[in-house]
This record gives sequence, structure tokens and C-alpha cells, in this order.
Amino acid sequence: MSKPLKVALLGCGVVGSQVIRLIHEQGADLAARIGAPLELAGVAVRRLGRKRDVEVDPALLTTDAESLVTRDDIDIVIEVIGGIEPARTLITAALSRGKSVVTANKALLGEDGATLHEAARTGHGDLYFEASVAGAIPLLRPLRESLVGDHVNRVLGIVNGTTNYILDKMDSTGASFTDALEEAQTLGYAEADPTADVEGFDAAAKAAILAGHAFHSRVTAEQVHREGITEITATDVASAKEMGYVIKLLAICARSDDGRSIGVRVHPAMIPRTHPLAGVREAYNAVFVEAESAGELMFYGKGAGGAPTASAVLGDLVAVARNRLAGTRGPDESTYASLKVHPIGETVTRCHVALDVADKPGVLATVAELFAKHDVSIQTVRQEGHGDDAQLVIVTHRATDADLTATMEGLRELDVVRAVASVMRVEGDE
Ligand SMILES: NC(=O)c1ccc[n+]([C@@H]2O[C@H](COP(=O)([O-])OP(=O)(O)OC[C@H]3O[C@@H](n4cnc5c(N)ncnc54)[C@H](OP(=O)(O)O)[C@@H]3O)[C@@H](O)[C@H]2O)c1
Repeated sequence: MSKPLKVALLGCGVVGSQVIRLIHEQGADLAARIGAPLELAGVAVRRLGRKRDVEVDPALLTTDAESLVTRDDIDIVIEVIGGIEPARTLITAALSRGKSVVTANKALLGEDGATLHEAARTGHGDLYFEASVAGAIPLLRPLRESLVGDHVNRVLGIVNGTTNYILDKMDSTGASFTDALEEAQTLGYAEADPTADVEGFDAAAKAAILAGHAFHSRVTAEQVHREGITEITATDVASAKEMGYVIKLLAICARSDDGRSIGVRVHPAMIPRTHPLAGVREAYNAVFVEAESAGELMFYGKGAGGAPTASAVLGDLVAVARNRLAGTRGPDESTYASLKVHPIGETVTRCHVALDVADKPGVLATVAELFAKHDVSIQTVRQEGHGDDAQLVIVTHRATDADLTATMEGLRELDVVRAVASVMRVEGDE
């Protein structure tokens, strides 16, 4: 058995406290798997006196994270503080001193992964971050290692448990967005300020990380087209249900048809109730990967929570510890393909639209003509209600998002259309 590897933990909240518990409870097994014991050498927090979910030796606690990560005796730093600063400064300080880093920080990786990867390269340490996307679910290692010999065409998934919980409640109980959000907050699935989740920022950061891995290109969260779920009404959910669809917040990373660029987007979409992602309930996450030779793969599990996320952190911890003992490093960031992220307008998708229309002859012909003018072909049309309640529900074939948007704008101008009641992209059944 080699001498102990010293670990500095930054953050002792939901995830950090579970990391400590696992290091303590599974110390002997982890040592046997690594070939050296792990020694927790310090824990940086913001408030020393705070009650913790795990017992921590007070002598290990410090509010001086910077001194901890730059200590000569530290081998590995685990960052579970979150946010951009001071996390970025602390991680780069550790990496540039040759330490290995494990982090769960999707916000930072989505915004400025390049700086961290560069620091890992120059410092010859490891940077692992499995827990940053979909909590416990192994996704990044499969993309980075198991599927690296294949050609990934698409990654499509539910990567935010909070929004999935809200949409699932709306679908199963008919609740409004506000009521479902309130329930999610009461049960601890949503934060008091739910913006990062319900506006899609969290999923966009994860989509950027996934797209980078899948397509060997650098993608930032800023390049991800993002729409949240706050505008979704109980009527949208009910009308999707009636047509055999369910609404999910999806992260979609896909090559363009000519393979020369990629689209990376996060938005609510209708998927058929028969699609495997439709069965992902409550706060669970699931990601579908479509690769040329492997075909379709689905990864499913808990995307958040202290223990599930700590499981992914511990997996990375063992991996970087083994690498250090072997005097080697894991694979660097792979960006050789340098594929451009195309604007949302170039994305090819389908659309479901509900129109409140005047009940008079020729309405359907006028509407159909407008779709044709924008090169959008119609797959199905259904009329519901009569008189002032008449509604046309149209599902299109595949078209560019730009043509679909132009069609929706044109519909709003038509005299025969009283209102465009709802518009939603349709995914998963082409
Ligand atoms: N929670 C999840 O389910 C989950 C899932 C996947 C990924 N993640 C990611 O994991 C990371 C941690 O999340 P979390 O839920 O564990 O957060 P959290 O419960 O808010 O814990 C954050 C911890 O960081 C400490 N901290 C904050 N600012 C600090 C500073 N300047 N210096 C030193 N310590 C500082 C806090 O100290 P005090 O305790 O003294 O306040 C706290 O212990 C985030 O990047 C998050 O995105 C979380």
C-alpha cells in the first residue's frame, strides 16, 4: 500500500457532506481499490459554526480555501462550492500546482471550461467532472472513453430534475405551472429562487458540456439556445396529452444533416408518450445517445441529491487517485473537430401549433397557403370546437426553425386567425 493521498474538500453542503460520509464509511474499500488510503486533509467552508449533516473534525475546517488548495502536501482537490468565483480561482490555483481536481460545478464548466482544461494541461494534473451532468448517472466517462471510437450523432435528454418534476406534476394532476413549482419547492426539489432551473440555465450548462464531449468541440453555455418552462400552461399540457404527447424540458445536441455544424439547445418540447423519455417521471434524469455503430443508448437515474452526486464524485476521486499513483493522467479535453455551433434558425425540427380561428369558409385554405409559402409542410390538421371556439391544431413535418418561426409570425398577421394559442416544438418521433 502506498502512502496516503491527501484530499482537500472545498464545500461541505448537500454534496460535500455526503462526500465526507462516503470517504469515512468506505475508507478501507476505497484504499484497496486505489492502492493507497485517502486522507481528508482539510475542508473549506464559508461559515465555521454552521451545523453540518455529517461529523467533521473541527480541526479540518477552514474558511481560507486558497491556503488549503495551495498547500504543498495536498494531492487532490474536490470542489463542491458551486458558482463561478471563487471556484474558478481555487481550481486553477490547484491545477497549476500539479494537483488533480474533481468538481461537480456545471455552471463554471459551462461558462469557462477552457480555462480549467488549460490549467490541467499545463499543470499535468487531472480534471474530472462526472457529477456536473446528471448527478449519479455515468455519462461523461461513457462519452469520453467508451464511445470515443464511435461517431455520435445526437444526445437528447432530460438533465434537470426540478423541471421534470414540475412538468410531470402538471401532466399527471393537471396542475398549473405555479402550483407545481410551489409543490416542488415544498418537497425540496426546487430552490427558493428557481430561476436557474425553470429558465433552463442549469440544463444549458449541462448541454454545453455534453455537446463538447459528444462532438469533440468546445461549446459554452452562452452558445446554447435556451428557453425555459415558465410559459407552459395547464392547457398546453392537456392538449399535448390529448394528442398522445407529453411535454418535457429537453437538452438536444445534434449534428446538422450535412455534419458540418452542431445545434445545441434547451427548450420544452412535445414527445410521443411511447418515447422512452416520456416514461421518465418525477425528478429523474435520462439521456439518449445515438451513435453510428452503437445505435441508441439510454442512461437513466438520479440526476441530483447529496448521495447520488457524491457517488459520481467518489468515482472520479478513485480514478484521479489511481492515475496519480500510476504517474499518469486521464484524457485531456478533446476539441480537435472544432465544429461550429449553428444558430437556432438552422436547426431542423417539427412544430405543434394551436390556432383560434374564425369559423368561416376558406380558413383552412388560407392557413395552408401560408405554411406552403414558408416551405413548411403539414403532417396533420385537426379542427376542434365550432363558432367562436373553433381551433385548428396543426403538426408540421420537419422544417428549419427559421421557416417555422416565420410561419408563426405570418399566422399572427392573418385576418382569419384570432390568436396563436400555443406553439411547441415536437421531438422524438421523426
Ligand atoms: N445538490 C445537488 O443535488 C447537486 C447535483 C449535481 C451537482 N451539484 C453541484 O455541486 C456543487 C455543490 O452543490 P451543493 O448543493 O452541495 O451546494 P451547497 O449545499 O450550497 O453547499 C455549498 C458549500 O460551499 C461552501 N462555500 C460557499 N462559498 C464558499 C467559499 N467562498 N469558500 C469556502 N466554502 C464556500 C458552503 O459553506 P457553508 O456550508 O459554510 O455555507 C457550503 O458548504 C455545485 O456546483 C452544484 O451545481 C449539486
